[in-house]
Amino acid sequence: MNVLGIESSCDETSIAVISNGELKANLISSQDFHAEYGGVIPELSSRAHLQIILPLLKKALKESGISLNQIDLVTATAGPGLIGALLVGLSFAKGLAYSLNVPFVPVNHIEGHIFSGFLMKEKPEFPYLCLVVSGGHTLLLLVKNDSEIIKLGSTIDDAVGEAFDKVAKMLGFEYPGGPLIQRYAEKGNPDSIKFPIAKLKNKYDFSFSGLKTAVLRYVESVKKETGELNEETKCNIAASFQKAIIEALLIKTKLALVEFDVKSISLVGGVAANKPLRESITQLGNAFDKKVVIPDLSYCGDNAAMIAYRGMRLHQLGYKFSFDVTAYARMPERFFKSYENSL
Ligand code: KG4
Ligand code: ZN
Repeated sequence: MNVLGIESSCDETSIAVISNGELKANLISSQDFHAEYGGVIPELSSRAHLQIILPLLKKALKESGISLNQIDLVTATAGPGLIGALLVGLSFAKGLAYSLNVPFVPVNHIEGHIFSGFLMKEKPEFPYLCLVVSGGHTLLLLVKNDSEIIKLGSTIDDAVGEAFDKVAKMLGFEYPGGPLIQRYAEKGNPDSIKFPIAKLKNKYDFSFSGLKTAVLRYVESVKKETGELNEETKCNIAASFQKAIIEALLIKTKLALVEFDVKSISLVGGVAANKPLRESITQLGNAFDKKVVIPDLSYCGDNAAMIAYRGMRLHQLGYKFSFDVTAYARMPERFFKSYENSL
C-alpha cells in the first residue's frame, strides 16, 4: 500500500510517502520568512503553503519513485493548527483522494506526534508514557494502544516550546528561538540563576508562565543595571532557564513512571529536538529500565511522515471518513475519541 501524507498546520509544508510500510520520502519546507515578524503570521503562512504544496508533491513522488496513480490512501492534518494553513493541505488532500478515487484519512496533528516514535527502527511498546513537547502543546500521556490514550496532565498556561520562544525573544533571538537557547546554554552555567519550578494541584500538570515572568524580571533587572545583556549573561540565562524547564518535565515524568507500569517512554514534538532534554529523558528511562524511544530530529518538528503513519494506522484499524471533514483550530473536547464519528 502506498500512503501519501500532507502536513500544513503551521509554518511547515511537508509531504511524505510510505510504501509498503517503508518511508520513501519526507520533504519539509519551512517558512523561514516569519522570523522577521517574531512569530507566525497566519495569512502569510496559508499563502506560502498554497505556493509550495504542488511542487513539493511532485518532488516527493519523484524521490519516492511512486507515481500519483499508484497512491492508495491520502492522509492530511485536519487540526489543531492555523485554520487557513490547515485548509490548504486538507483541501488539497481531499481533492487528490477524490480524483484518485482512494480513501482519505484526516489526522490529528498531536496524534501524529504521539505515534512518531513508530517511524524509528526501535519502536515504542504499549503501554508507553508519552511526553509531548511542542510549540503549541505540552502533554503527559499514557498510551495504552493505538486508540486508547489517557491524558495524565498538560500545561495550564504556556507550552514548553512557547516558553522557549518567548525567553529567546527576551534575549533578542529570532523566532523560533528554541534551538538558539540550546546553543547559548551550552556556553552558560545552569546553576548561575535559580528560576522557579511550578507546583500544581494536579501533580501531572505543567505551568511555565511563572518561569517566563521570572526570566523577564531578571532580564529587566540586568538591563536596568548595565543597559545591555552581554553574551555571558545571555548564556547563563539560557542555561538556567533550560535547566528549570528540563527539571519540571523530569519531575512529572518520573512521578508517572513510578505510578504506571509502562513498557516504554517516548519523547516527541518540536522541543524533543533539544539535546539536553533528550539525554535527561534517556537517563531517566534507563534508570527505570524502560525502553526509550525519541524520534530522529527530522520527525520531532512538524513533518508529514508522522501524519502518513498515523493515517495509515487509522485506515488499517478500519476507520473510514467522509470528504466533508473540515479543519479545526483547537484540540477537540473529546480529542482522543475524535474518530468515533468516522463512517
Ligand atoms: O512540534 P513543532 O515543530 O511545532 C508545533 O506543532 O508546535 O514545535 C516547534 C517548537 C518551537 O517552539 C521551537 O522553538 C521548539 O519546538 N524547538 C526547540 C528546539 N528545536 C525546536 N526548543 C528547544 N530546543 C531545541 N533544540
Ligand atoms: Zn507539531
